[in-house]
Amino acid sequence: MRPSAILIAAKNVIKKFKYFFIGWCFTVLGISAIVYFSSLDNKPKLKYDRYKREDGHHKLCLIVPFRDRFEELLEFAPHITKFLDRQRVKHHITVVNQIDEFRFNRGSLINAGFKFVLANITDCDYIGMHDVDLLPLNDNISYAYPGDDAFHVASPNLHPRYHYQTFIGGILLINRKQFASVNGLSNRYWGWGMEDDELYLRLKEGKIKVLRPGKLSTDITNSFRHIHGPKRKRDMVRCFNQARVNMKRDRLTGLNNVNYGVTSVNSLVIDNCNVSLVNVELYCDRQVTPWCSCGVSSFPTFFR
Ligand SMILES: *[C@@H]1O[C@H](CO)[C@@H](O)[C@H](O)[C@H]1NC(C)=O
Ligand SMILES: *[C@@H]1O[C@H](CO)[C@@H](O)[C@H](O)[C@H]1NC(C)=O
Ligand SMILES: *[C@@H]1O[C@H](CO)[C@@H](O)[C@H](O)[C@H]1NC(C)=O
Repeated sequence: MRPSAILIAAKNVIKKFKYFFIGWCFTVLGISAIVYFSSLDNKPKLKYDRYKREDGHHKLCLIVPFRDRFEELLEFAPHITKFLDRQRVKHHITVVNQIDEFRFNRGSLINAGFKFVLANITDCDYIGMHDVDLLPLNDNISYAYPGDDAFHVASPNLHPRYHYQTFIGGILLINRKQFASVNGLSNRYWGWGMEDDELYLRLKEGKIKVLRPGKLSTDITNSFRHIHGPKRKRDMVRCFNQARVNMKRDRLTGLNNVNYGVTSVNSLVIDNCNVSLVNVELYCDRQVTPWCSCGVSSFPTFFR
């Protein structure tokens, strides 16, 4: 065959099969595109499963204010680890142990714990302030990432003991950014209680909504186990003008001026659960909060 005959033959073939060729080209292009784009999409596929969607994207840092309660910690750490593992919530537990001689200061311990996790556990994007003696029992109580809202896990209709509507103590989840934006908690509360009520006012002023668990099949009797024994007394003493100051909104103290030192950090393993134990020494300015110690020995000499 001469070259021109080959050309004519080729032309005829193209003419006859041109729609087939076009179709074939589009098919190959289409398949390549699908393969390419699906290789880019490595996110979990279970879009509508809350826990699975969170898996790998968010990490919770639990901050547990603590003093002298090792039996409770031995029970808390394995319990909460298994609970969160079942929900597939990635997490780390930091126990902030107050080692100074002053009265317990939950607000300052949480502020110090927040600074610790920010510096040392850098991949947490939300925190959970968590009492060591409150164990969740219902697996439908979610610890998932709360977005821009706060999520009050130990809600008044579930907590065994506190049932007033503005209660936000016990267990509260909040993302790192929102916690910093309200300057954490007040450092003025020494002794038991009310720092969480002041935090409620901070969140309200900061326009941070507090959400709570929806309808559950459990109630105040069986949603949590409260392992706070009757032997353990709460420090409800009020001295100097503490009672009056505690009622007021504190716009001066918080995360930015919590006064403390980290004396040591221990990595504990409790039944295969990793826990960072941060030993914190709080300092007290007795000019500002003389009630950090109510004992006779700490009174200024002119009172004796
Ligand atoms: C981070 O951890 C180290 C010890 O591991 C500790 O000395 C330091 O104080 C921690 N940082 C903060 C801000 O707590
Ligand atoms: C949790 O929710 C699921 C689905 O709604 C339900 O089947 C289950 O009984 C609930 N469990 C509890 C302890 O409430
Ligand atoms: C606990 O810590 C050890 C040592 O740092 C680490 O190898 C292990 O993977 C951790 N376990 C969990 C469950 O995070």
